[in-house]
Amino acid sequence: MKDTKVIELEQVFVEMDGVTVLENVNLTVNEYDFLGIIGPNGGGKTTMLRVLLGLVKPYRGKVKIMGAAADKNRHLLGYVPQYALFDRSFPISVEEVVISARLARKKGRRFSDLDKSIAAEALARVEMLPLRKRRMGELSGGERQRVLVARALALKPRILLLDEPTASVDSRFAAGFYELLQELNQEMTLILVSHDISAVSSYVKTLACMNRTLYYEHSHQLSPQMIEDSYHCPVDLIAHGVPHRVLQPHDGVGGH
Ligand SMILES: Nc1ncnc2c1ncn2[C@@H]1O[C@H](COP(=O)(O)OP(=O)(O)O)[C@@H](O)[C@H]1O
Ligand SMILES: [Mg+2]
Repeated sequence: MKDTKVIELEQVFVEMDGVTVLENVNLTVNEYDFLGIIGPNGGGKTTMLRVLLGLVKPYRGKVKIMGAAADKNRHLLGYVPQYALFDRSFPISVEEVVISARLARKKGRRFSDLDKSIAAEALARVEMLPLRKRRMGELSGGERQRVLVARALALKPRILLLDEPTASVDSRFAAGFYELLQELNQEMTLILVSHDISAVSSYVKTLACMNRTLYYEHSHQLSPQMIEDSYHCPVDLIAHGVPHRVLQPHDGVGGH
């Protein structure tokens, strides 16, 4: 259902090494939204995803997934990490990368026929099944990114988190990749973070900005002034093609 809340962050604060990295972050994401979060490097985007994944603990605030405490429903999240984090030299095949996600969840060493068929299905979904025997290190950046999406899909997520997925690929590839995301969005909620406004803005349904705190509101007009004020981003990049132009401070949240 469109109005089902799948993610709720309430007054979330995170500190790292004595520095406030997330400050009073409030966010509600409805099912089947495609939320793009843009913001400068160091703005806290990855940290927010890590909060959702339970890898970073806020010192204040609430996190809910599908209406329940995050711990209970974290298995509903799929995660596509920043490509740079993948070790290219590791000798592992495409299908092993995908199936290993299922083994990690089961904490087992053996995979079943079901695991195998789910992995194949996930690879087919991203059009990488023909390359399933290839080594990861032999793929292009774009192909590798699709495999990482398949890896996340193999766990049947309801919500897919993507961290800078097009950072290291050319724009021709990126367009196809966003088309894939739009297809996936028919079945699941997507949250994509990027420092690159132009990459994100024409494909998402909702756009938010993150620079320590989160600036967003559903179905509001974009205010270029706000982007410049909160962010110092070149505004012309997001002038066209944004379905929902969203940029307002959340209630009670000021600037820096
Ligand atoms: N493990 C960590 N230890 C200390 N500081 C961190 C750690 N992870 C992130 N930070 C700091 O938190 C801030 C936000 O980082 P990050 O969430 O990676 O931003 P973004 O993904 O938007 O570039 C940065 O100032 C970064 O240096
Ligand atoms: Mg990051």
